[in-house]
Amino acid sequence: MNRSWPMKLGVNIDHVATLRQARHTPYPNLSMAIAAAEQGGADAITLHLREDRRHIQDADVLAIHDHVQTRVNLEMAATDEMIDIACRIRPRDCCIVPERREELTTEGGLDVKGQQSRLSVARKQLAAAGIRVSLFIEPDVSLLPIVQAIGAPAIELHTGRYANLAPGIERDQELVRLKKMSAQAHAAGIQVNAGHGLDYENVGVIAEIPELVELNIGHSIVCRAIFVGLEQATREMKALMQVART
Ligand code: PXP
Repeated sequence: MNRSWPMKLGVNIDHVATLRQARHTPYPNLSMAIAAAEQGGADAITLHLREDRRHIQDADVLAIHDHVQTRVNLEMAATDEMIDIACRIRPRDCCIVPERREELTTEGGLDVKGQQSRLSVARKQLAAAGIRVSLFIEPDVSLLPIVQAIGAPAIELHTGRYANLAPGIERDQELVRLKKMSAQAHAAGIQVNAGHGLDYENVGVIAEIPELVELNIGHSIVCRAIFVGLEQATREMKALMQVART
């Protein structure tokens, strides 16, 4: 497969909002963060409106199209409240994620088997509003027929397990699962994205997977931005992705 097609980077700005919410200050300013990420080469801006509103707020989502020049990818749970907000805002993409209030961050992929009918309804409602739906799932090929039955045009593979494992057999096996899932989903006509826990050390191995179209990365970029600024932190991540593709 030709790996020379550029891989896209969605910069997740949740943790810029985390800093703001820590003190309920007006700064750091989200629109400035969006501009910096886009200057640094972000192809999309990703944000997660959580039920507990711990970082991104409703007002951020409502104003998002005033600030984003590229493309908005809204991560959210498939609840009536979130579907209603998404249908009002109409981001280009919606990534449906599982959500538990007590979790530190999104843990594990969607239970597409148990939630098939709920996710099918959500997918249809969002598609009717012109929104492209992606399902955040584990790299498990047995889930693909269910993704197809739901009718999702895209998936985002959860790379968190790979990112958390120490080098060794288990991590190698997880990489094999990610590669196999990417190849089979791509062959089935599904767009394959990936994200979670990706950083400047591990992004290259993931970006080398030829079927992957987009990576969504937040925490590591915002952390690096403390030292070099968000524009440069984004540029460095994008450069590592491009190197992996060539
Ligand atoms: N993709 C999805 C679906 C997520 O839920 C998150 C975390 O909000 C990310 C990507 C980004 O993960 P990280 O902040 O670890 O880069």
